[in-house]
Amino acid sequence: MGIEPISTLLHENRKFPPAPAAASGFSRWHIASMDEYRQLHKKSLQDPEGFWASEAGCLSWFRRWDKVLDWNPPDAKWFLGAQLNACFNCVDRHVQSGHGDQIALIWEGEPVGPQTSHPSPGSAYAKEPEIRRLTYRDLQIETSKVANVLRRLGVKKGDVVTIYMPMVPELAIAILACARIGAAHSVIFGGFAPHAITERVTDANSRIIITADGGYRRGEAVALQKNVEEAIGQLANTGHIVNHILVLKRTGHEPPSQRFHSGHAPAAIGASPTKFHWWHEIEALVSDACPCEPMDSEDMLFLLYTSGSTGKPKGILHTTGGYLTYVNTTCRLAFNMIPDSGQIFWCSADIGWVTGHSYVLYGPLMNRVPTLMYEGAPNFPSFPGGKGDRFWDIIARHRVTQFYTAPTAIRTFMKWGEELPARHDLSSLRLLGTVGEPINPEAWIWYHEHIGRKQCPIVDTYWQTETAGHICTPLPGAIPTKPGSCTLPMLGIDAAVVNEQGEELPANKGGLFVIRKPWPGMLRGVYGNRERFISNYWSRVKDPASSTPYYFSADGARRDEDGYFWIQGRIDDVIKVSGHLLGTMEVESALVSHPMVAEAAVVGMPHDIKGNAICAFVTIKSKWFADNPGQQPGEELRKQLAAHVAKEVGALARPDQVRFAEGLPKTRSGKIMRRLLRDVAAGVEKITQDTTTLEDFSVVAKLRADEE
Ligand code: WT7
Repeated sequence: MGIEPISTLLHENRKFPPAPAAASGFSRWHIASMDEYRQLHKKSLQDPEGFWASEAGCLSWFRRWDKVLDWNPPDAKWFLGAQLNACFNCVDRHVQSGHGDQIALIWEGEPVGPQTSHPSPGSAYAKEPEIRRLTYRDLQIETSKVANVLRRLGVKKGDVVTIYMPMVPELAIAILACARIGAAHSVIFGGFAPHAITERVTDANSRIIITADGGYRRGEAVALQKNVEEAIGQLANTGHIVNHILVLKRTGHEPPSQRFHSGHAPAAIGASPTKFHWWHEIEALVSDACPCEPMDSEDMLFLLYTSGSTGKPKGILHTTGGYLTYVNTTCRLAFNMIPDSGQIFWCSADIGWVTGHSYVLYGPLMNRVPTLMYEGAPNFPSFPGGKGDRFWDIIARHRVTQFYTAPTAIRTFMKWGEELPARHDLSSLRLLGTVGEPINPEAWIWYHEHIGRKQCPIVDTYWQTETAGHICTPLPGAIPTKPGSCTLPMLGIDAAVVNEQGEELPANKGGLFVIRKPWPGMLRGVYGNRERFISNYWSRVKDPASSTPYYFSADGARRDEDGYFWIQGRIDDVIKVSGHLLGTMEVESALVSHPMVAEAAVVGMPHDIKGNAICAFVTIKSKWFADNPGQQPGEELRKQLAAHVAKEVGALARPDQVRFAEGLPKTRSGKIMRRLLRDVAAGVEKITQDTTTLEDFSVVAKLRADEE
């Protein structure tokens, strides 16, 4: 794993200074000048414990800590001896402080208008979209009920509850209900295939899954429950038993399965011991009062699986006190959140990703700023050419003040044209954010001009599932922005670009992005896999003086002459496709699970909208051709293989290109030469790699010929 030569060293000189708060529509900036930022940042690194103790003071604790930090590299414990509850901090404390009737969550369903094939249950024929507004008091009642449902189904403090749901308020409620009783949630993105559920449920030893019959996406009802049933079928072979499936009725598109039983006396169906329950039926049986369980600061709050460089996803483990403190602070500072000031925050990410965990749910709720959740696609209803303006319509109707989305979405909106946002009143917007991958300057400028009216600061937030919240981001009132740069580190973050020896590099030299001091939001482990925790994050670079390991994010980066960070992307075997991480191994395993495939190598290739797309090089078993006379490695087989990957992993893993090769280029030690394949995929004319270690030169020649 070497540092990639940076072919496109960006030299972007445009700089956008922050405007006074009033000019951006805010009553004040939390941090209002570069001097203030620099001073605070310096202080936060000199006295991290003092800084984080004061930040933790913004939360509500049942018991104060005895000690702020215990740092035993790479293990950190924050707020030792303290107790708190995540749901209490998001919901109950606001009710107790007299804000119970304020709106906590605004939800808009997808179905609307004549294109809706399945009208939403709440909105007769859905001329208008279905909208639900939940207050903190509503959330208190709803989370208490679901907490009681979970208890009734035998869930105890410390258990892992798997959640596989569409973007509906009940997803937020389910997550918070887990937190309420001290069960850890493990949310699986609804776009993943059954195999992903099987894998994650087994790894987390989870005995209960919360799902829905379906969810809406681009006018279609996506069958979630069916995927769960398929996963249960696969689990039968592993010996892992899921006791209960709790099913929310959302789409009602399928006749009720005969698997269901009333909450009173759930009975098993057939050979499977798994019991299915309708959410609404069992919820009717429980009380709407349930106190929040006091949790130790270091008790697990959730697991969230993310792709790694081996085929198996990693269960990133976050704990309660540190996660909440870090998310609360970053959310307040980067988005300049101020309660009671008319803000409505919309993060368009799915809650199935960490962005949704931290900035759809926990961050805004803790900060007491209403959070908007939208169920569906940006192009529903869709215009000719598959274009859509739903996002701009939502911003205008709900008067959204801060909007947070991904570069891949922005590039899509660019392609659809600025006429679409221009048709809507976006004057409520005060701040824009981006996350997920480096943003190309043209997309940044387009966002600034056509969505932000050249008035909204843009916060390009760099972070990871592992970091819980923003690591580098402009603070909107303080830090001048440069299109394409995530600018400077968050308070309390000691970020650096170093070489393999851990030495900090001079300006504009590409190197490894590391964090040199612990922070409250850092991951506490990879669930059940200590070795992966150490080897993935803590083994590559050390402090050259003390040998203390640094946290390595697996991204390459450089700092410019102003100290600004420019993230250059992953240097491990994961690819960012439309901002979503995918392990090349995951896709390769899916490919070789197809009977025709002998061997596969997957690489990323540049793509205008997705950032990267997947290119798969595949060799076919000679026996397969013998058994299937007349078959040629052509378009038909390519399509079949791409569809197979989508079925095994999920639609976002579908390769854009499948290329057949007689053999894959390997080094003498048998390692696939991925860099060479990346060049071939990118259409780099001259293959720049040193090929002297190739075992089979003819292979390279073939691939190159294929290219011509
Ligand atoms: C990887 C983490 C962070 C929440 C969503 C993704 C890339 C993320 C940026 C950004 C450049 C970025 C990095 C990182 N990344 N944000 N603003 N600029 N790169 O979380 O799935 O854990 O992915 O996303 O490569 O390592 P994730």
